[in-house]
Amino acid sequence: MKKMVRFFTLGFLLLCLGFVLFGCGDSETSGASDGGESSDDSKQKLVVGTDATYAPMEYMDKDGNIVGIDIEIVDAIARALDVEVEYKNIGWEPLFPAVDNGEVDFAVSSITITDERKESFDFTDPYYVANQVILVPEGSDTTGFEDLKEKKVSVQINTTGHVAVKELLGNTSSDIVATETMPLAINELLNGNADASVGDNSVVNAYIKNNPDVELKIIEDDSFEKEYYGLMVKKGNTEIIDLLNEGIQKIKDSGKLEEITGFKVE
Ligand code: ARG
Repeated sequence: MKKMVRFFTLGFLLLCLGFVLFGCGDSETSGASDGGESSDDSKQKLVVGTDATYAPMEYMDKDGNIVGIDIEIVDAIARALDVEVEYKNIGWEPLFPAVDNGEVDFAVSSITITDERKESFDFTDPYYVANQVILVPEGSDTTGFEDLKEKKVSVQINTTGHVAVKELLGNTSSDIVATETMPLAINELLNGNADASVGDNSVVNAYIKNNPDVELKIIEDDSFEKEYYGLMVKKGNTEIIDLLNEGIQKIKDSGKLEEITGFKVE
């Protein structure tokens, strides 16, 4: 009984930690961020949508602000362009229609530039490079992606991780547990509903680093290709694309992008 209580307490603590680390999925608007300067009506203002459940890339801090590496990058772009930005926490799946219907001017959300998405959206030049990794319980016999064929795998829905797992297990496989957010996908693993999780290294690595007591390990697999993140814009909106690309170029040239991410992206 004591053991059970300890188990549940641990589970509850992990859950709380997950919420703190990843933020919750509520739709909220952050106070207008202007990239560090005071609000100025004469400046162009861009509304930026995100899914702030993706620490350390985009998440809610404990005061309810949308923060993270992606947010720092967009703030730096805004400063370089002398425009204002306002962030909206839209969520992952609703983000795509929000860009399409003009609710937001563009999206930043660790979004991988893919050929399939390019059919419906335009992307800026890449600003970040990542790849998929596999997360499994410490005792798992999994050594690579192929080993997941016989397993239950959790992913964040409609992400590149989900696409990769669908290719392995089949589009309609009931062994795929697709959740609204990445923290929920990891929870499925922690509570035994999945044998593995597949997601971006940018987020999974940080999760393991920040939760050293969690009995999970990361498996890398060379078959996962490099993925490049871009800012996503409504198809055909060349004005915003050109503007954002100019900003990305500026923060690449000034070294600011590398200062934020810790590596160079060509
Ligand atoms: N890079 C992956 C993709 O584009 C996952 C991105 C998920 N981002 C997020 N904020 N939830 O599909």
